[in-house]
Amino acid sequence: MKTLESTTDVRGGCSVQRFVRGHNQVTLYNADCRDVLPEIAWDAIVTDPPYGVNHCGNKGRRAKIDCEITGDTTPPDVAWMAEYPSVIWGANNFELPRSTGWLVWDKTHGAKCQHSQAELAWSNVVKTVRLHREAYHGFMRQRDGWYHPTQKPPMLMQWCMQWLAEGCTVLDPYMGSGTTGLAALRTGRNFVGIEIDPKHFETACARIERECNQGAFDMTPND
Ligand SMILES: C[S@@+](CC[C@H](N)C(=O)[O-])C[C@H]1O[C@@H](n2cnc3c(N)ncnc32)[C@H](O)[C@@H]1O
Repeated sequence: MKTLESTTDVRGGCSVQRFVRGHNQVTLYNADCRDVLPEIAWDAIVTDPPYGVNHCGNKGRRAKIDCEITGDTTPPDVAWMAEYPSVIWGANNFELPRSTGWLVWDKTHGAKCQHSQAELAWSNVVKTVRLHREAYHGFMRQRDGWYHPTQKPPMLMQWCMQWLAEGCTVLDPYMGSGTTGLAALRTGRNFVGIEIDPKHFETACARIERECNQGAFDMTPND
């Protein structure tokens, strides 16, 4: 039985990459999610859309990574996501229905830090407020590598998966460098990711391919 597979095709003018690891499948689209969503299926959403806060980018040493973000001047419409089991980061920037189930990422920044001390995710998969504490600055971020200006920690995204059905297909329509995809694979879920920016799309493909190459331990017997 094949445990790892990677194929590319072009559909409707957009590049599509597919990866298979064991029983889990990953499909990545380089496209505007609004064009692709009507064509695809998923069970749940874990995402981190652009917030409409106009991330300014870095003109210095990290300019290649810390660049401006597509769609970051006005927040996208995410209200439709509430119809699915969803976790939506940055949701204090969006219009969403009332929910009692918010996820909080405590970034462990000291009170003097000018950046946010925490980030919030709207969810309809938990009923109460849940807290994840993880430092992701300085050495902790450096250790993972700089892939995207607003990259999320893989551990944080893995933490979100515990409330979604095992083996389900998770969609991230704003996947950036593919962190949600890594988390889905690491927790035995399928993944569909969409990214509009070709540079971030390439990064996501490379990270996910590396993940597949590293962790392909399929214990099912050959048929
Ligand atoms: C906040 S970032 C996601 C970062 C991601 N969580 C990570 O860890 O790398 C949002 C991403 O959405 C992408 N984006 C913006 N508008 C889009 C659209 N209409 N369709 C698909 N992707 C879009 C941006 O290019 C950006 O990479």
